[in-house]
Amino acid sequence: MDTVSEVARLRHQVAGWRREGALVGFVPTMGALHAGHLSLVRIARERAAAGSTGGRVVASIFVNPTQFGPQEDLARYPRAPERDAALLAEAGCDLLFLPAVETIYPPGHATFVEPGGAARGLEGDVRPGHFRGVATVVTQLFQLVQPDLAVFGEKDAQQLAVVRQLVRDLHVPVEIVAGPTVRESDGLAMSSRNAYLSPDERRRAPDLSRTLFAARGRALHGETDPRLLEVDVLRQLEAAGLEAEYVEAVDALTMARAERIAPGVALAAAVRLGKTRLIDNVLLVDPEEATG
Ligand code: PAJ
Repeated sequence: MDTVSEVARLRHQVAGWRREGALVGFVPTMGALHAGHLSLVRIARERAAAGSTGGRVVASIFVNPTQFGPQEDLARYPRAPERDAALLAEAGCDLLFLPAVETIYPPGHATFVEPGGAARGLEGDVRPGHFRGVATVVTQLFQLVQPDLAVFGEKDAQQLAVVRQLVRDLHVPVEIVAGPTVRESDGLAMSSRNAYLSPDERRRAPDLSRTLFAARGRALHGETDPRLLEVDVLRQLEAAGLEAEYVEAVDALTMARAERIAPGVALAAAVRLGKTRLIDNVLLVDPEEATG
């Protein structure tokens, strides 16, 4: 696997693969990689290989300053590019794009992508400007890499919805593929930010997913009122000492508040555990489950 930082070298490499007829899959990340990220690389590899003469996979690592708020963890966000490169190579990535901040935001950079719709509410409320930063960098990365498909994790359900919306609204010729959330054995969704948790916080963190999965169980057993589930989850999180920022049943495609529990509705939550923010979501009813 090669690592490139310059745009010209990235373009040259990808153009060569395209001439050979390969489909190019792309996995954007902020690094400090874990098994969740690597699962997306494997999905990209399988999807790119289907129906083409040997697919290729590009991953990027870029800790994007514009998606962090002024009081957030940009400076202390974990960085481990060498370890990450070894993990990516092992997972079947062909090229790592590792741009400098000045490459993405050179002096004079003044164009941003402002998403509405799916970017409103939830993370969009708690982290003003976050999705503007995400949409801007993802648009730039799509322009730079020019992939056929890109894989995003369901762990960040609202981000996935924002990216789908942006690709549709701006006519970006990239297929968006969703990768399922990869969890630790106790249910905690993997996240680069889990490294911030103290041993005691780490023991309590799985209460978030446990509570969400219990609500899914209630939905499967016939509960149809999303507001009841939200209130219940809020109460259980508070009882477990997790400070909830929001608990909301939403349509996973549009992020619109769900009025009833139906296929494609997810329960999304954000909590604070000490200094760390954790987010997670579960589908209450799988999208393919027809209502009859
Ligand atoms: P990052 O948090 O590094 O995540 C990169 C990708 O990995 C995202 O698509 C995210 O949803 C996915 N991911 C994270 N944890 C996961 C898990 N446990 N299981 C499955 N997938 C998981 O998300 C970002 O970076 C940035 O916002 C980015 C899209 C790169 C733009 O800067």
